[in-house]
Amino acid sequence: MFGGPRALSAMSHTMSVQPNSLNASTLAPFVDPLPIPPVAKSSGLRPLPSSPKTKVPYYRLAAQPIDVKIHRDLKPTRLWAFGGSVPGPTLELRSGEESLVEWANELPQQHFLPIDYRLHGAKGNPEVRIVTHLHGGIVPSDSDGYPEDWYVPGKSLTYHYPIVQEPAMLWYHDHAMGINRLNIYAGLFGAAIVRDKVEDALGLPDGKYEIPLMIFDRMLTPEGQLYYPVSGKPNEPWIPELFGDAMLVNGKVFPYLEVEPRKYRFRVLNASNARFYHLSFANGLEFYQIGTDQGLLPAPLKLKKIALAPAERVDLVVDFSDCRGEQIVLKDVEYKVMQFRVSRDKVSDSSTVPSQLRPVPKIAESEAVKTRLLTLDEYFTLKGETVLLLLNGSYWHEPISENPVQNSTEIWTFINPTDDTHPIHLHTVRFQILDRQNYEPMTYQMKKEFRFLGPRTPPEPYEAGWKDTAMAHSKMVTRIIVPFKSYPGRYVWHCHILEHEDNEMMRPYEIVAK
Ligand code: C2O
Ligand code: CU
Ligand code: CU
Repeated sequence: MFGGPRALSAMSHTMSVQPNSLNASTLAPFVDPLPIPPVAKSSGLRPLPSSPKTKVPYYRLAAQPIDVKIHRDLKPTRLWAFGGSVPGPTLELRSGEESLVEWANELPQQHFLPIDYRLHGAKGNPEVRIVTHLHGGIVPSDSDGYPEDWYVPGKSLTYHYPIVQEPAMLWYHDHAMGINRLNIYAGLFGAAIVRDKVEDALGLPDGKYEIPLMIFDRMLTPEGQLYYPVSGKPNEPWIPELFGDAMLVNGKVFPYLEVEPRKYRFRVLNASNARFYHLSFANGLEFYQIGTDQGLLPAPLKLKKIALAPAERVDLVVDFSDCRGEQIVLKDVEYKVMQFRVSRDKVSDSSTVPSQLRPVPKIAESEAVKTRLLTLDEYFTLKGETVLLLLNGSYWHEPISENPVQNSTEIWTFINPTDDTHPIHLHTVRFQILDRQNYEPMTYQMKKEFRFLGPRTPPEPYEAGWKDTAMAHSKMVTRIIVPFKSYPGRYVWHCHILEHEDNEMMRPYEIVAK
């Protein structure tokens, strides 16, 4: 159903290599081993503020500047990191086990990336502000990292994560209003993996055979520093999308990984600001997808390629047993991403990919008590430059319009007249994609009537599980069904292209207690 890679990508409004940037294709590929982020270590038990008799594991992750080598031939690059690495340490969590995380801001007073002071949240506020969100986490509203709950260097916030959810790869990242794209670009993110006994018992590859692959693109200066281009208009540095030509996985540019000829489980995250990936192995190797954003699929799916929008995750099992001695490149459409070097060793592999993983009961449309029609809007200058993006024609500061009742189910219908695919994310819930349908935007805009140009198509097999981020394709109507099984309070929903999110493509919403 996709019209090729173009239809899946955000439109490239800017050239990806600018004159004062390093051409990353001149960097030798596959010279650095893939780093594995450390596992976050708890510094003991602490009482829960809400029930002081309960003591739970407590973590402290501080955001600090670091200088790290991201490629063999580059000098150290200045990044901002949680817990000393980019990506930050992985939080290992278990369903039903609560924890506390103190997110500390130990950054300098000055930002090193171009803030646009016209944007909401940036205007009149300190340069350096952070607030951390656990993407995909079902968490109380006051621990969700509300974009306006940011705090300055020297301050911290301790969040409570109850983990009332099934196993999945979540990720934490900055969410500070108006500078989110810059803070994440600087490096403020990491993985959080939720597990449970049921998943442990499946016999999937684990331990050193289960590896997170967090992929993100960056532009670099000739000196190997982060480069975030500006629009060229004085005092209006915002650009509509950032596309870099250096592909980093777990913090190294074009790394390699030595693997044994056996099965591996890869937890893949697209941590890019705006880039969509279309991943495949250059030798055509097939692999299994076993999970989506929010956990396991009912059954493994055999694939040769997979598309991933910003913030989406896929859980993959790759079997290298027929590739002894081979060097296999994992590639995107235009770019090499990383290389796997398969040893010739004889190994025994007792891991399995069971034919049944975890049931994903399909939510019936009849369960929805409400349907919301929500447009995705992009505004241009006369010259055709994007200047603003809105959700349903509303700015961030306008009153809340989406207010689902706690535990009720709703259908959200995203109407996308723009030329871009927008990956739409709702905080604190998981949902299922119902379908997509081509429509005629002009008719809808004039008369608020749908003229459909084709049948409803079900989600792609690789997105037919629990999701928290869904691609709303250009000139299509995308419907998702959402049980609002979370806590009452204020959350947000937004486009996960970070440049869009920072320029008003984000709205508060409120889960209303029954
Ligand atoms: Cu990745 Cu508002 O989230
Ligand atoms: Cu989120
Ligand atoms: Cu968008």
